Amino acid sequence: MELCVITGSQEGLHKVFDMLINPGDTVLLDGFTYPGTVAALARDYDFLIIEDDSYYFLQFEKPWTPTLLSLDVDSRVTRTDTLSNILSPGLRIGFLTGPKPLIDSNSAYAGLNNAHQYSHTVRTELWTRQG
Ligand SMILES: Cc1ncc(COP(=O)(O)O)c(C=O)c1O
Repeated sequence: MELCVITGSQEGLHKVFDMLINPGDTVLLDGFTYPGTVAALARDYDFLIIEDDSYYFLQFEKPWTPTLLSLDVDSRVTRTDTLSNILSPGLRIGFLTGPKPLIDSNSAYAGLNNAHQYSHTVRTELWTRQG
């Protein structure tokens, strides 16, 4: 398993969809359901899971619902996390976690598309501080 920093969940999801999904592929979107059920179905029917769980760190009652990534036993799950909902959406910082080959491909993809991808955010912060 590997982790890389992304420019927010949406940017990470866009790249993951672009890398994994082809025209004509079947995509299932789940409503709220038990993570264990989805994980078991993925194993039985041999599909990948992309977990967009931006509210995970806003659970106020214990025990926290487990992530699909934490239930992953055979490298099917790629997960996005973001600081948008717990710190500030303007930071544009998130994390992509999943199988190393996919995370490495995402990093290569991001490097090709977004050389100096944080420069705009840093420049805006500096302008704001200077008034
Ligand atoms: C389902 C979902 N995913 C992701 C995000 C955050 O995306 P980003 O990290 O690009 O700001 C949100 C924001 O509220 C959301 O509702």
